Amino acid sequence: MAYFSRFRSLSLRHFSSSSILSPNSTSPLTSKQKSRAALALLKSESNPDRILDICRSASLTPESHLDRMAFSVAVSKLSRSQSFTAISSFLDDLKSRPDLRNDRFLSHAVVLYGQAGMLDHALRTFREFDDLGVPRSTKSLNALLFACILAKKHDEVNRIFREYPRIYGISPNIETYNTVIKSFCESGQSKSVFAVLDEMGRKGCKPTATSYNTLLAGLYREERYDDVGNVLKMMKENDCNPGISTYNVRIQSLCKLKKTGEAKALLDGLLSRGMMPNTETYYHLIYGFCKEGELEEAKRLFGAMSRKGCFPDSNCYFTLSYYLCEGGDFDAALRVCKQSIGKDWVPNFTTMKMLMNGLVGKSKVDEAREILGQIKEKFPSKADMWKEVEESLPQ
Ligand SMILES: *[C@@H]1O[C@H](CO)[C@@H](O)[C@H](O)[C@H]1NC(C)=O
Ligand SMILES: *[C@@H]1O[C@H](CO)[C@@H](O)[C@H](O)[C@H]1NC(C)=O
Repeated sequence: MAYFSRFRSLSLRHFSSSSILSPNSTSPLTSKQKSRAALALLKSESNPDRILDICRSASLTPESHLDRMAFSVAVSKLSRSQSFTAISSFLDDLKSRPDLRNDRFLSHAVVLYGQAGMLDHALRTFREFDDLGVPRSTKSLNALLFACILAKKHDEVNRIFREYPRIYGISPNIETYNTVIKSFCESGQSKSVFAVLDEMGRKGCKPTATSYNTLLAGLYREERYDDVGNVLKMMKENDCNPGISTYNVRIQSLCKLKKTGEAKALLDGLLSRGMMPNTETYYHLIYGFCKEGELEEAKRLFGAMSRKGCFPDSNCYFTLSYYLCEGGDFDAALRVCKQSIGKDWVPNFTTMKMLMNGLVGKSKVDEAREILGQIKEKFPSKADMWKEVEESLPQ
């Protein structure tokens, strides 16, 4: 009887699942179609039971990138609605699937528990590897450390890093060290990273540019400028000459501290040394100047970047047009928006609405209409949204 009812509920689930993912289709979906349908449904679903039904019916696996995204969307929705029991029963159910009894899935489950702030369950899952007959690897240790960072339990990172390699016989690798460095820097203890670098030296694990860049971002955040100089010296001594990624971290860090002028001096320095900046370099500076209200500087850099072979990406266009509108420079905003739309990148509704109001205020209703026409032509599916705006324009 018990067997029969389980069979019944399985077949019912099977029936309902195919209809959740493809309401109109009679032919079975391929696994990729299932993943796509599940991801799309998850994005607009907030009911915890429905979320679980969607995940179960798509039989997600962590082998696929789309499925990992779907897992992550599901878990963040469930934790937003505080459905922690649903998360643990869902992930624990999956552990019973034979195809998921492997390092890859279990490590992924550890990370998902961290993402949901359920670190006790992440630790429990790490302990359960033995029961499930899966050997622990450096990858699973790194997943656990990463889960601690996601759950913002930085003290746990330190404890696990100190104790677990010995307890479980796992050797740390560069990713382990970089995760620990990230944790110290994110928790305002970037000074402690120097001891980690010493340990790496003793263990013969060479720090990478990522190790140093993470440390630099932490030192800037704590405004330890003397140490920044020391790290740059260390990089040169260790055959890790600061390249553009290091410059970008320094520039972004200074911009966050509202020292965009100093950040710009770094750009001038690298140009005079014959180094090549990239689009990201300019983006950080444009954003920095915009936030400090220095729109002229932002516009100048936006104009200059292409001459250095760095072409603005959508972020550059969106940020600059938004701040130009906020600052009331509607003529410049109009030029930037037109270029952006010409590349099929439409700034968000807030920006476009500010621009429309600004143009109407300057009696440039024709320009406003023209740009709306352009958007509607390129994106007919969103025409309704813009029609409303158009109708609000003065005749
Ligand atoms: C399913 O069919 C209904 C009614 O015919 C339609 O409104 C809906 O858009 C269709 N859904 C899909 C996913 O094709
Ligand atoms: C619109 O875009 C700007 C620039 O990227 C951004 O700062 C702002 O937060 C966005 N507004 C909304 C409501 O998404």
